[in-house]
Amino acid sequence: MTNWQEYEQTTRRFLIEQVKAHVSPKRWQHILGVEESALELAKRYQVDLVQASSAALVHDYAKECSDEVFLEAIDTYQLDPELKQWTNEIWHGIVGAELIRRDLKIEDEAVLEAVRVHTTGAKEMSPLSQVLYVADYIEPNRQFPGVNEARELAKQDLTAAVAYETKHTLAFLIQKEVPIYPKTIETYNSWVAKRT
Ligand SMILES: [Fe+2]
Ligand SMILES: [Fe+2]
Repeated sequence: MTNWQEYEQTTRRFLIEQVKAHVSPKRWQHILGVEESALELAKRYQVDLVQASSAALVHDYAKECSDEVFLEAIDTYQLDPELKQWTNEIWHGIVGAELIRRDLKIEDEAVLEAVRVHTTGAKEMSPLSQVLYVADYIEPNRQFPGVNEARELAKQDLTAAVAYETKHTLAFLIQKEVPIYPKTIETYNSWVAKRT
């Protein structure tokens, strides 16, 4: 495990330089907000700070890539061809992880996994994946009804914040009548549904 000082002076600088040049200023602002929230949560819940920071800095690296880039990457990296039926929302995490490995030299599987599940969540999520998932939702630039409740929950109980976010995201998607990625349902069943 790399120590923070060494990371801050080397890898973090490299990631900032690369990612900043690859996304819009507004998205860069969001990414810095996610890093801030991810570091706060990581300290609170004893998650490695280097992993939390790097996952946050790279998580939306691929968000502005064209559909063609993702469709090609699905073939190149032999990902599930079913993915081609989805859109940027799903691709930028699952497919984006491969572009991040390639372009940003991220080899840490735990970081790549956190990126893969940062939009949809997953049945099982490591503490690092939970930190990124929640930080993406509550970072300081976010403004939506319920965000303060999510922020409070995140301070008290990380898994409760994962459940809150999952429930509200799913409700939002249903309201919009958009297709639900099956993994999002799995996340809901695992983190929210009460089994009696
Ligand atoms: Fe994202
Ligand atoms: Fe994000």
